Parts: sequence; C-alpha cells; structure tokens
Amino acid sequence: MSILLKGGIVVSAEGRRKVDVRIDGEIISEIGTNLAIDNSEVEDVSGCYLLPGFIDAHTHLELNNGKGSIGTADNFTTGSRAAVAKGTTAVIDMATPSKGTSLKQCLTDWNRLAEGNSFCDYTYHMSIIEWNKAISSEIKEMIDEGITSFKMYMAYDNLRTTDAEIFEAMTEIKKYNGMLGIHCENGDMVNEMIAKFVREGKLTPHYHPLTRPDSVEAEAVERYLMIADLAGLPVNIVHLSTARSLAAVRRARARGQKLFVETCPQYLVLDDHLYDGPDFEGAKYVCSPPLRSKKDQEVLWEGVMDGSIDTISTDHCSFNFEGQKTLGKDDFSKIPNGMPGVETRPELIYTYGVTTGKITLERMVELLSEGIAKQFHLFPQKGIIQKGSHADIVIWNPDTKGVISAKTQIQTVDYTPFDGMETKGSAQAVYLRGKKVAENGQCIAEMEGKFIHRKIVKESINPC
Ligand code: URP
Ligand code: ZN
Ligand code: ZN
Ligand code: ZN
Repeated sequence: MSILLKGGIVVSAEGRRKVDVRIDGEIISEIGTNLAIDNSEVEDVSGCYLLPGFIDAHTHLELNNGKGSIGTADNFTTGSRAAVAKGTTAVIDMATPSKGTSLKQCLTDWNRLAEGNSFCDYTYHMSIIEWNKAISSEIKEMIDEGITSFKMYMAYDNLRTTDAEIFEAMTEIKKYNGMLGIHCENGDMVNEMIAKFVREGKLTPHYHPLTRPDSVEAEAVERYLMIADLAGLPVNIVHLSTARSLAAVRRARARGQKLFVETCPQYLVLDDHLYDGPDFEGAKYVCSPPLRSKKDQEVLWEGVMDGSIDTISTDHCSFNFEGQKTLGKDDFSKIPNGMPGVETRPELIYTYGVTTGKITLERMVELLSEGIAKQFHLFPQKGIIQKGSHADIVIWNPDTKGVISAKTQIQTVDYTPFDGMETKGSAQAVYLRGKKVAENGQCIAEMEGKFIHRKIVKESINPC
C-alpha cells in the first residue's frame, strides 16, 4: 500500500510548495496538490515541513585514532541510530585504512563494519593515507565500486602525505572527475608547537588550540588550493573553521578556481573559551581544527549566508570523556581528537541558523542535504523530494522546543559538546526509502540502511 503525506510544505533549495507526497515502496511516486487518497495510508502532516533526508558527508563512525588504537565510542549501529532519529538518512563515512592496507581491503573492511549494522543509508570517502603505484592504480577501481570521493590529510603523522603525493593523487582523481576532500592543517607546524608546549610543561587543554592557530589552517588551505589549481581539480575543503581560511577560499574563487567548502556546527555555535573550562572539561572540545574565536564564528556564518560555504556536516568522531579523553589528563597532546555531532546537526542549524533569520529553510536544505547530494553524486536519488527520488523524507515540526543533553541523547558517548543548548524545531517523523524509521526523536526501525553505489554524472557537479 502506498503512503500519502498530506498537508505539508515541501522544501527544496529552490523554494517551498504546499503539496501532497505519495510514496510507493522506496520511491516518491507522485507530488501534487490535493492528491486523491485512493488506497493510500494517509499521514496528516499539516503544520510541518517536508525536507529531504539530511546527509552527513563527514562522519568517523569507526575510527581508531592511532594513539594507542583507541576506537570511537560510536560505531555504525549507534551512530546511524542517532542520525536517523533526528533526520539524517545517509552518511558518508571516512573509510580509513591503516598503512600498508590496499584501498580495496579498506573498502571490504568498511563494508563488513556497515553491512547489516546501519539504520541509515551510507557510503564512504576513501582515505588515501599513503601514495604509491598500487594505491594510484586503485583510484579507478574505487570509482567503479561506487566510491567517487576521497580524503587526504595534511596533518596527523599517521595519516598525512606530502604535497607531491597530494598533487599526484589529484591528477589521478581528476582523470575520472572524482572528488577529493582534505584536512587542511600544516602538520609540521602543529608538531612543532605541540613539542614546544610539552617542553615548557604547558599541558592543559587550554594549549590545544594554541598548537593549531588559524594560520596553521589558512596556510594549508592556501597551499592545497594552489596545488589543486595546478592539478585542475575542483576540490573540497573539509571542516573549514576560520576567517583567514575563508579569505583564502574567496581569493581562489576570485581567480576563477572551482572548489567546495564544508564547515561543521561546532565552528558555528561553540567557541574557544570552552578550552578554559573547569577541571579537565576543556578536553571535551579537543578536536582538530580546534574551536575558534567568536569573530571567526561570525565570519563563518557570513560564509554560510552568502554561499561561500557550500555544506555543513559534522565530523562526528566520538570519544568518551571518561577513559578516552581522560587519557590526556596530564598532557593535552594525548587527548583523542574529535567530538560527537551526527545527532544534533539538524536541530542546531535550524535553531541557530533558521530561527535567528540568518538563513532560510531552503538554504538549510541546501547545506544539509541537496548541496551535499549534488557534490557527492547522490543526486537526484537523494537530496530532493521529487517524483522518482528515494522517499527519504523528514517531517519537520517547527514548533517543538528542546534542550540538548547527554542524558537523553541517542549517540553512545558519555557527553555532548552542545549540552544544555536550547533548540527549536525537530524531526517529528523520518522516512528512509519509504519506511518510517523514526518518530518523535526515537529510532523505530530495524537496521535496514544500505550502501549507496554512486556514479559520476558530470552535470551534477555545480560549484559556485
Ligand atoms: O578532531 C577531529 N576532527 N577528529 C576527526 C578526524 C579529523 O580530523 O577529521
Ligand atoms: Zn579532519
Ligand atoms: Zn584558553
Ligand atoms: Zn574528520
């Protein structure tokens, strides 16, 4: 039997329309005003917005951080459960091999972790942490397997490659119109500053952001963009966090370069005073790049508003405070980097972006779903509510109020960096490929998320 969502307002990046939506099986079969009920099961969604299922293009659901092989607190099951509960119906997880492992093996490993264990749909960015002939020859293979995007690092000694290797990888990825995202921080400078503070006995979380100042990111962004320009590849900058980096982006675009920029909710709603919290509280916010100043926050919001920033994803990388973050109690450099966030992105962006009048709901849809789907070859299967697309639909109730709390969250981690923040609006129900998977903030379905095989359609790349 089909499902008829009646009386809601369908929102896309382009605008909003009061129309009914019919779902048949996994697919949206009809959209129009006053659709006949026929044999459909009717859900009255009046007073709600119908938004395309949100896509989180930056999660680490299964990361070992390399520092003593600490695994993330969440895994595919717990992370995806938290995701769908609040409206995220697909994630693009960072598949991260260890040194000496082929990309194919890493893909097999990630499929083993995700298959049958995910509440939401998923795909991966394949991380390239070393570069050689064998890895190079696997780029096309990955794209044929549906993995059209890659990830590299300019920081973290266990993950980073040289500029020459980045250039070579870009050249190879460009042959197939793939997408590359990079963690932009100058790894040498970070190491240098960590060593200096450790030498001086400056070991509290307060010093974490001082080892990774805005110049460390902006220099890497500038360098990365120059290398990409040389390779002629439109690239993605992940978790951009500072005004200086955004200025570098604007310079690159002014000279005609095509590129994409992602930021994350934590850089928009939290700031670096949190590193000075009581006791060891600052450790909760140790992520890289670190939280920035209020001024950076303002400039990032401007970028979100004026289109300089293309997407907002979370960089969800959850480590428990007790037993994991506390490993760095005597030395901030031993605190595992990363924060949870896959659950809270929609409510945070709606509350602090839409209800404050900074952005429209249409823009939120673009930042959290449609733009991501287009950039990463998931569109028009996902990212839009239209005939023929996956019925991934968030029934968004704008009138609810809530408070983010570690006690009530679904993510399986012992804190949230957004604890105590008030929210407005939430997902009243969530459909994943035609099946209701969440209601009133709780996941109600089985683990039926599936791997989404992506295919490069050049027209879908639409950088600003
Ligand atoms: O601190 C962070 N962001 N950890 C996750 C890995 C990364 O850098 O994206
Ligand atoms: Zn990163
Ligand atoms: Zn401080
Ligand atoms: Zn990340």
